[in-house]
Amino acid sequence: MQSVTDLPFLRTLQRLNCLPDFIVTPYLRSSTTSCVMPDSITRCITENPTSCPIWAQLAGSEIEPLLRDVEKLREFPIAGINLNAGCPAPLMNRHGAGAALLKNPIHLRRICCAMRSATAPGCWSVKCRLGWESAEEFPQILEAIAAGAPDLLIVHARTRRQLYAGEPNDAAVRLAVQQVPCPVLANGDIASRDDAEHRLLSTQARGIMIGRGIVRNPYLLRELRGGMSPSRDEMLLYYTTLLEETGRELPHPSPSAHCNRMKKFLAYCYKDFPAQAEYCLRRCTSPSAMEQLLLSSAKQEPIPCTH
Ligand SMILES: Cc1cc2nc3c(=O)[nH]c(=O)nc-3n(C[C@H](O)[C@H](O)[C@H](O)COP(=O)(O)O)c2cc1C
Repeated sequence: MQSVTDLPFLRTLQRLNCLPDFIVTPYLRSSTTSCVMPDSITRCITENPTSCPIWAQLAGSEIEPLLRDVEKLREFPIAGINLNAGCPAPLMNRHGAGAALLKNPIHLRRICCAMRSATAPGCWSVKCRLGWESAEEFPQILEAIAAGAPDLLIVHARTRRQLYAGEPNDAAVRLAVQQVPCPVLANGDIASRDDAEHRLLSTQARGIMIGRGIVRNPYLLRELRGGMSPSRDEMLLYYTTLLEETGRELPHPSPSAHCNRMKKFLAYCYKDFPAQAEYCLRRCTSPSAMEQLLLSSAKQEPIPCTH
């Protein structure tokens, strides 16, 4: 997840021993002039603190730049390349990339075939949504993707129009499972072990990908392997480890920059805090005050709010 699942987050997962089977980087933007490769993303690859294989994700709209960047990424210790055909960000979509690729299945097919021929067996995957406007577009999109013979397909089971709203469409994922010969992973709104079990059953997918649910509760990875749900102390350990790790990687260190960085993660966690704690965390500008707020919430003590 862009600006979220960064090196401090990966270090936190490693320290908590909550690790997925593999990781996909936030997208690297493949434009006609260059590949935008921010350090914050490439260091996730070169300094990957986990033992997990990591796929580099490319977002682009033209074959030549995408192939140029596939070539560039050969220097990196990655498991493979993932094509982003799902990002709904207007700026990216205006340039024809991300979910905008879904508008033109013929062009998508050409891109997929070209990327297939530029990547080694086992090293090419796609992440897509169901369509731009409607899931009725999905069968044609699947044909285009299948022509590029990906080794893995991850389906965020919503259209671009839906953004993040509405129920993920399990029937569409089932269609992908039937039509595309590679393993398919279901993605979208999986926040608990029950959600995961339900989605696997209902989609027949080989596995799942989780984004926001892991930021909210990284121990979900343990729960999915049959382990315990986290105690309050473990959640506190998560927040404080993340606070410490984010503090180590600030481009322009300052107390408020540190708190603002931490709030990018807390945005997915606020629903687990009492309203008063959320109110104070959102306004907090001092890391030590933030730590105190996290501690008081975990211990269910009165919230030391100065606002
Ligand atoms: C802040 C944010 C950044 C994201 N960045 C990316 C990205 O770089 N590449 C990508 O494929 N998906 C990205 N996504 C989409 C997620 O990977 C995922 O498909 C979506 O959030 C639905 O799954 P979830 O409910 O498990 O989070 C992002 C989502 C969010 C909320």
